Amino acid sequence: MTVSEDSSWFTLRWNAGRVELLDQRLLPSEERYLLLGEVEELAVAIEGLAVRGAPAIGCAAAMGVALGAETSEAEDASGLIADLEARVIPRLASTRPTAVNLFWALNRMRETLGRLAAAPGADARTIRSGLVAEAEKILEEDKATCREIGRAGVELVPEEARVLTHCNAGALATGGYGTALGVIRAAVEAGRRVRVLADETRPLLQGARLTAWELSRDEIPVEVCTDSMAGHLMQQGEVDLVIVGADRIAANGDVANKIGTYGLAVLARAHDIPFYVAAPLSTIDLEVPDGASIPIEIRGRDEVARIGERTILPDRVGVRQPAFDVTPARLVTALVTEKGLVRPLREESIRNLFAPSD
Ligand code: MRU
Repeated sequence: MTVSEDSSWFTLRWNAGRVELLDQRLLPSEERYLLLGEVEELAVAIEGLAVRGAPAIGCAAAMGVALGAETSEAEDASGLIADLEARVIPRLASTRPTAVNLFWALNRMRETLGRLAAAPGADARTIRSGLVAEAEKILEEDKATCREIGRAGVELVPEEARVLTHCNAGALATGGYGTALGVIRAAVEAGRRVRVLADETRPLLQGARLTAWELSRDEIPVEVCTDSMAGHLMQQGEVDLVIVGADRIAANGDVANKIGTYGLAVLARAHDIPFYVAAPLSTIDLEVPDGASIPIEIRGRDEVARIGERTILPDRVGVRQPAFDVTPARLVTALVTEKGLVRPLREESIRNLFAPSD
């Protein structure tokens, strides 16, 4: 069986000088695309989670730099570079602090800018077209990377498997196919009989709204449970493995991912259930020694205090709203990357992933 070939939708793409993306805030009730022609519009879309998930944020940011170049009023190469460095890149970098793919993509676009500017005959026009080409390349590479992650993870999935996942680490969170959901898709393609349990993922319900939407589009069996049901379902023997994505992995293997992931990892350990993390190398941040040094995004009160149009808290009552938590490396059974499995997760084996191959 081949899955995720449902070409009737896409996460994001470059479309004739603008960035087109599926507005994930409206799913599953509405499938509407935004066509964004200004960097500020794209930055607001990233902040508001119209596009979200670490690799997709990286792809969107790369396209944001291309968009900034296309819309810049600068007439020559040096004016264009100055505008991108002073206005465009800092604005995009300010959108979301935890997903390191954002900074990875901006660095790659900055390096490309330097290379394009140093090329013989470089001018504003060649720099603009070179940045658009690089952003499109980053998107295509991300899709291919997800396929490789999927292939690497198949061996972790038994012939018949009930798989619990959290948040959305799927096609919607990447250029396409997904990381954690990429492993699930690849396992289904390899003939495994997989049933997915999707944590609803309070407060913004990425599991209920997005994971359930994209898996059901691919006809992969999926049921949604509230976050607080996971322990009970594990205790009842209803979960064979847990697989999640990541927003940033520190050099020692600690994993920042959607709030609630740490609790799941503790529960999985208590029930002797394997806990896997699937992520591309662009999610690994060797500059950050451990999880305690990963910046955790704190989001606004309304995301907890309201459900849809309804306020569910008394007035004047505060909320706690960390959007991510950190799972210590020791609770991760294996990391699935495009370069294969890392098991157990240790600093040395993580650094080896970046060693040049012969
Ligand atoms: O706040 P979000 O929806 O951007 O959080 C997304 C996650 O936590 C995902 O699990 C992570 O980015 C991995 S996506 C392949």
